[in-house]
Amino acid sequence: MFPKNMFFFLILTLTTASVQDDNFTYNGFGAAKLHLDGIAEIAPNGLLILTDTREPAKGHAFLPTPLRFKNSTTGKALSFSTSFIFAIVPKYQDLFGHGIAFVLAQSANLSYALPSQFLGLFNSSNPYSSNQIVAIEFDTNMNPEFNDIDNNHVGIDVNGPKSLSSKHAAYDNGGGLKSLNLVSGKPIQAWIEYNHLDGQLNVTLAPADVAKPSVPCLSSNVNLSSWISDYMYVGFSSAVGPFITSHYMLGWSFKLNGKAQALDLSQLPSLPRIGSKSTLESWKIGLLIILAIVLLLIITIGVIFFVKSSTKFREVFEDWELEYGPQRFCYKDLFLATKGFRDQHLLGAGGFGRVYKGVLPDSEIPVAVKQVSHESRQGMREFIAEIVSIGRLRHRNLVQLLGYCRRKGELLLVYEFMPNSSLDKYLFNQPKLMLSWGQRFHIIKGVASALYYLHEGWEKVVVHRDIKASNILLDDQMNGRLGDFGLARLYDHGTDPQTTHVVGTLGYLAPELTKTGKATTGTDVFAFGGFLLEVACGRRPIEIRASEEDVVLVDKVLECWKAGTILEARDPNLGNQYIVEEMEMVLKLGLLCSHPNSSSRPPMRLVMRILERDAPLPEISEDGWNAEVSGMGEGGFDNYGMSGSSLLTMSACSPSTMESLPLTGR
Ligand SMILES: *[C@@H]1O[C@H](CO)[C@@H](O)[C@H](O)[C@H]1NC(C)=O
Ligand SMILES: *[C@@H]1O[C@H](CO)[C@@H](O)[C@H](O)[C@H]1NC(C)=O
Ligand SMILES: *[C@@H]1O[C@H](CO)[C@@H](O)[C@H](O)[C@H]1NC(C)=O
Ligand SMILES: *[C@@H]1O[C@H](CO)[C@@H](O)[C@H](O)[C@H]1NC(C)=O
Ligand SMILES: *[C@@H]1O[C@H](CO)[C@@H](O)[C@H](O)[C@H]1NC(C)=O
Ligand SMILES: *[C@@H]1O[C@H](CO)[C@@H](O)[C@H](O)[C@H]1NC(C)=O
Ligand SMILES: *[C@@H]1O[C@H](CO)[C@@H](O)[C@H](O)[C@H]1NC(C)=O
Repeated sequence: MFPKNMFFFLILTLTTASVQDDNFTYNGFGAAKLHLDGIAEIAPNGLLILTDTREPAKGHAFLPTPLRFKNSTTGKALSFSTSFIFAIVPKYQDLFGHGIAFVLAQSANLSYALPSQFLGLFNSSNPYSSNQIVAIEFDTNMNPEFNDIDNNHVGIDVNGPKSLSSKHAAYDNGGGLKSLNLVSGKPIQAWIEYNHLDGQLNVTLAPADVAKPSVPCLSSNVNLSSWISDYMYVGFSSAVGPFITSHYMLGWSFKLNGKAQALDLSQLPSLPRIGSKSTLESWKIGLLIILAIVLLLIITIGVIFFVKSSTKFREVFEDWELEYGPQRFCYKDLFLATKGFRDQHLLGAGGFGRVYKGVLPDSEIPVAVKQVSHESRQGMREFIAEIVSIGRLRHRNLVQLLGYCRRKGELLLVYEFMPNSSLDKYLFNQPKLMLSWGQRFHIIKGVASALYYLHEGWEKVVVHRDIKASNILLDDQMNGRLGDFGLARLYDHGTDPQTTHVVGTLGYLAPELTKTGKATTGTDVFAFGGFLLEVACGRRPIEIRASEEDVVLVDKVLECWKAGTILEARDPNLGNQYIVEEMEMVLKLGLLCSHPNSSSRPPMRLVMRILERDAPLPEISEDGWNAEVSGMGEGGFDNYGMSGSSLLTMSACSPSTMESLPLTGR
């Protein structure tokens, strides 16, 4: 298969021209002045053979001297026009590669270049070459890595095998667009024209026996001035890969600053005849082809699988995340855990994103994966730092945050899985299963102790910001677990710090929060008050109801309390299955915590002691209630917008000073 020494091919034909030869026509290359390398050669009949049956190989044919391609006064690329006739003859009908290119190159030494898909012009390193190259490729293979559109296209390549612009090879000689098979084995004529005025480059092609179509196949604005240097070599390159394909050039005309002469078809050399093979040889070849196809198929499937899986599981990882290694989950694991984030695994979808159930592949730990879409990268670092520090919080009434994973535009938070869903499912809208008073009181005490831990039990004061029944999750023993904290913080970042949006949920927003936008332990206590009333009354803090006074739950409970019948506000579904003292205490505590004046609300430390009957319930002050109780009174907050201060906030009203404030009786 390799009859000649591969390093033997530097053939300099004739002498180098002393005058710039920028107008020439070769009808056959018998007398052409060309510099050949690779396996290129000129047959005795004048046929330029760029590649033949040797493979893999490359072949080049260039003018021996570079042409001045730029106007010396303006520095702009000159117009040019060229026309040539080529033929690509594959040895086997469906196996061929890789193509021919018309080339302008700063250096004609292309020893660094690779054959096959690199067309003898580029190599696989990045950048693809240090040589300056503009090539018009006639590419007969589809290489997805170079964004090739198909296996029969014309493209403009600048300094790399990825085309700036490309088109399926076709022509229209008046009878509509016809596809042109580049590997038909028949001669094809191509015209390339560049106009320096508008930087437009046209590539037209047609079978050699068809006149030049008036509409180019590919027309593209490529301002060559920025891509070429003053002097450029002009010529052709061709390359073969594993499939034997011959690339021939029959004629070539070229003119700088003008229109190239038409080729004379009658003078062109003829292509070699394709000899018939013995039946034995074709049988062997057939077998080889089948083998090759099978191999190719296996490789293609492998490559597709590899490419697909590597993009599917692509993550975003930055240096500063190194220290969070243990908290960082690998996307592939989460993908496998949730069976590809399938709908069957969807646990719920809320304001912040969708939550999926999953089982981690190796440890088989059940988890809930929250998918939060997040475009802005701004503030991500601080947010992740907070998420990780939240992950260090440990309390039996908190939903444990196990870690996170980051992808482009997406954040995934991994939590401990809570089998019994969220509390609201058991309270509102005729629940399938109603919680007994004992269960409810147990959940209330659990949530109170979790909130007390966040406010006072850790090295920093953590404000939850979004306490409500739907954020209380239930574990397998029906303990209340506070979840979903910190997410509000994510939406803080990227918003203008000057504008204050309030985050939270309507009906749980303390009045001062809507004014100052600053979340504090006091605003958490307010939301906790709303939660107490929800659990005791079995309804949401704000519900559109028949009677207008009943819309806001706190107002209703307050009315009952003023009338001395606070127990009437309780969940009617409970019947009389409840403990009167506990119910009364929870309702009154709910009111106390929901006081519009933050200084009248008890701190969580006191709330805990009251629930444990360790401290007496303070009297409720009747003063100050006429302020907007529910936070609905004044506009200016955005229901799902986000708020100002930090999640890990050293709260302005520290719990200890709050406790010393009198909880006024009358
Ligand atoms: C270009 O060369 C051709 C012959 O190859 C000649 O007929 C023609 O006049 C030349 N054109 C110019 C502008 O020199
Ligand atoms: C170069 O540009 C100048 C100014 O536009 C023009 O007069 C001259 O003919 C150009 N030279 C060539 C070789 O095109
Ligand atoms: C082409 O370049 C290579 C290395 O860049 C060099 O070794 C070789 O001698 C050059 N060939 C010619 C003909 O200049
Ligand atoms: C690719 O070609 C450049 C020259 O254009 C050369 O510097 C580089 O070493 C080559 N890379 C490989 C992998 O051959
Ligand atoms: C390229 O083709 C377009 C459309 O046919 C034509 O208007 C334009 O003049 C051509 N440009 C060149 C440089 O031939
Ligand atoms: C809570 O979860 C446990 C364990 O999955 C289960 O046995 C129990 O029935 C659940 N309770 C309710 C009320 O769904
Ligand atoms: C809140 O209560 C404190 C003490 O009870 C009082 O000094 C303050 O003026 C009250 N604030 C409002 C806005 O009513």
